Amino acid sequence: MRKRIVAGNWKMNKTFTEAESLLFDIAELLSDRDDTNVEVVVCPPSLYLELASDIAKQNGFKCGAQNCSQYNPGAYTGEISAEMLQSAGVQYVILGHSERRSYFGEKDDVLALKVDKALMNELTPIYCCGEVLKEREGNSHFAVVEEQIKKALFHLKNDEITKLVIAYEPVWAIGTGRTATPAQAQEMHAHIRKVIADKYGVDTANSISILYGGSCNPGNAAELFAQPDVDGGLIGGASLKADDFVKIINSFGK
Ligand code: PGA
Repeated sequence: MRKRIVAGNWKMNKTFTEAESLLFDIAELLSDRDDTNVEVVVCPPSLYLELASDIAKQNGFKCGAQNCSQYNPGAYTGEISAEMLQSAGVQYVILGHSERRSYFGEKDDVLALKVDKALMNELTPIYCCGEVLKEREGNSHFAVVEEQIKKALFHLKNDEITKLVIAYEPVWAIGTGRTATPAQAQEMHAHIRKVIADKYGVDTANSISILYGGSCNPGNAAELFAQPDVDGGLIGGASLKADDFVKIINSFGK
């Protein structure tokens, strides 16, 4: 069975003390959660990763970064390497988030290098893809997502792509309160799986967890997670409140 995963993307939010109390609140609520077979990943700003990975280790969840450099350690002011993340106990890294693509100009060719660095350092990339509203309205959303997958991931070997998690995040749904319908999510997730199956085979495609992201909240998570190709969620705003985040984690099978 594919791994079911809920990852919280804190983005650029929380002071140190706020981050610390959110981590402890999540840990406490997780201690009596319904289903311990869901992998929980918390992705705080990089400044808090060491703290988060310590608390995560003691409380049965995982810690992820929101980005890593495409370069080997060296003279790259302001950057953080995959090797450094690994040495701080980080296990996941979000790559290709639409905010990185649109505000920081990250393109698929650079993302391919970041994926390589993450895998080399035993980090699990959560590779994000998704179309903007204009592309959906123009009916090119399948082609857009397909290209994002092919360009950043299709250089990987079979045993490498199975180490990846993919997050489908329609850009029009991120932080907007406008969620994709469960049918829209399922349709795209199935498409992503088919694109991977066509190159790597059905077994490989079936082993990869595909998360949905974009205004996922305690009210809509259960229906989204009930879709056969939706293996969990990448949660932004709702991951900043321990209660909401853990409710989402508890939404499987509801
Ligand atoms: P959102 O963000 O849940 O606030 O829409 C999701 C994301 O950007 O990963």
